[in-house]
Amino acid sequence: MCGIIGYVGNKQANNILINGLLALEYRGYDSAGIATLENNEIKIMKDKGRVKNILDLDGYNELQGTYGIAHTRWATHGKPSQENSHPHMDNSNTFTVVHNGIIENYNELRSFLTDNGYTFYSQTDTEVIPNLIHYYFKNISKNTDINNTDKILEAVVKATNDLKGSYAIEVISPLMPDTIIVARKDSPLVIGTKSDENFIASDIPALLTYTKDFYLLDDNEFAVITKDSISFYNKDLENYTKEIKNIEWDASSAEKNGYEDFMLKEIFEQPNSVRETIGSRLKLNESCNFDDLQITSEYLKSINKIFIVACGTAMHAGLVGKILLEKLCKIPTEVDIASEFRYRDPIIDDKTLCIYVSQSGETADTIAALKLAKSKGAKTLAISNVIGSSITREADYTIYTHAGPEIAVASTKAYTSQVVLFAVLAIHFSELLGYDNADITINSDGQTIKLDNIKKDILDLPKKISMILEDTSLIKKFADEAYTQKDMFFLGRGVDQTVALEGSLKLKEISYIHSEAYASGELKHGPIALIENGIHVISILTDPSLAKKSISNIQEVITRGAKTMVITNQDLENTNFDYIYKIPETNPLISPILSVIPLQLLAYYISKNKGLDVDKPRNLAKSVTVE
Ligand code: AGP
Ligand code: GLU
Repeated sequence: MCGIIGYVGNKQANNILINGLLALEYRGYDSAGIATLENNEIKIMKDKGRVKNILDLDGYNELQGTYGIAHTRWATHGKPSQENSHPHMDNSNTFTVVHNGIIENYNELRSFLTDNGYTFYSQTDTEVIPNLIHYYFKNISKNTDINNTDKILEAVVKATNDLKGSYAIEVISPLMPDTIIVARKDSPLVIGTKSDENFIASDIPALLTYTKDFYLLDDNEFAVITKDSISFYNKDLENYTKEIKNIEWDASSAEKNGYEDFMLKEIFEQPNSVRETIGSRLKLNESCNFDDLQITSEYLKSINKIFIVACGTAMHAGLVGKILLEKLCKIPTEVDIASEFRYRDPIIDDKTLCIYVSQSGETADTIAALKLAKSKGAKTLAISNVIGSSITREADYTIYTHAGPEIAVASTKAYTSQVVLFAVLAIHFSELLGYDNADITINSDGQTIKLDNIKKDILDLPKKISMILEDTSLIKKFADEAYTQKDMFFLGRGVDQTVALEGSLKLKEISYIHSEAYASGELKHGPIALIENGIHVISILTDPSLAKKSISNIQEVITRGAKTMVITNQDLENTNFDYIYKIPETNPLISPILSVIPLQLLAYYISKNKGLDVDKPRNLAKSVTVE
């Protein structure tokens, strides 16, 4: 899950490497390190802790090298410590490597290398990589017909052939001055290019201040990078060319723009990010327009099941997607957690459409779950926020949320964009299926609407999100009171239950307060035993047809001493709730896009009150590229 940076050009590399690491620190931040090469000597600076610690290490300011590699770590093997930090070297100090991913067979490789005389100085899985490269290089180097770079490339290919698991690696060596070799499998790596300098990173936003031209390395590809050339190779060492992708994102969108934290900025960006997601896909009195999606009505009519597969917040967006697809398209839809789906032998065939949701597009479990469905003959559709991310390159179809870069570990604008995209997609599918004029039953009272009603409600969402964001004082007040709590509950029925799950996850992630989310009606089947005097319970109530039932459930917790906040679009005067937070009314099918916002703000303000690092919560990373 770590961040990788590389630079080769005419400028001093150290500051470029550190700036890149700072931009990638959200991916992992328990240790950091850089390596540059000057006068044929590798200089490594690394330590546990944040990237900025490197700046204080003796000798950092004297680093003169004009190329180098760097890493910010999210430890998987070996605790965060100086010796476990990357870069790692082989025993002969010839090859220096940074690695993102997990080498699953590192124990076997370690024994093999130990038997061959190698010694290990860290607990990481990574350290086998430079030593394996050295092991293969020793033999190849006897051949005097080829140059060192080609020999090292061959050794890298041979070494990666032995690796099981995932990796994105960068390799430098005094034997190939001014050159970096990179490789990837199941971990992201992009190459940014400019005349006379080239950059490497785990994601595109980290390089946007330098270039908008990128090569996106695919699995099992290798690249040899100098300041004025990039050569691509496959595992058979065949050389080929790749297409440059021009990325339109603006560099400033990956900066804080005056906000204290990325998370707050991203929460406040939601009117705009939701507008961008809708884009020109949805207009009143017109059919939806999905230029980027070639799914036909014949295909849709042929399927009998949809799976939505994702992790964390993206999975919560999928839960709303299921409700939308079932209501609007009448296709049975199941939601699965990717890490479960991939190992539970799901029933899938060519009549199944599998939709994968991933903000980063790099989540290892989600990608593996997609590959599984493909192998069983299903069509796959990726919903991602990152152009060209790994998942988009694996899927049969891709649609983008266009929410702009999301940097804070806790996902906010990606969620609302995913939900709105599900809504627009469900309308599009419904039109393709010929339900344009059908009455859609939206709740248990049997209330029906037409597609045009919901289209109008979707188009009104950006304005309504802005209304919520205009006054956050009540949420701040509740956060001031609640931040010392040890436990909290989130309750809801129907679609509101999915938002309860998301509110609870947000709170856990950034405030470290234990919380539970439950379907309101389920509470009395066990968890109500945990309700005691003073416990804070947050309820979401946006579906009028379920209001009475939900109010009774709230009364049940009040009777047992709970303090309550209700997030609602209903008129709930004359109740004994401690806090009522009114949000604008909308169709219950899309209400999560509004009701989640106070919950995002609540988690944010509680985290701030506790003095925590909102954007980089402990133990987490933005992009979960390991299983
Ligand atoms: C969200 O706040 C979390 N950090 C996490 O649950 C995240 O949504 C999950 O890891 C999936 O990420 P993805 O959308 O990039 O695949
Ligand atoms: N598995 C490697 C380690 O623990 C790399 C982890 C990462 O991707 O940051 O050092």
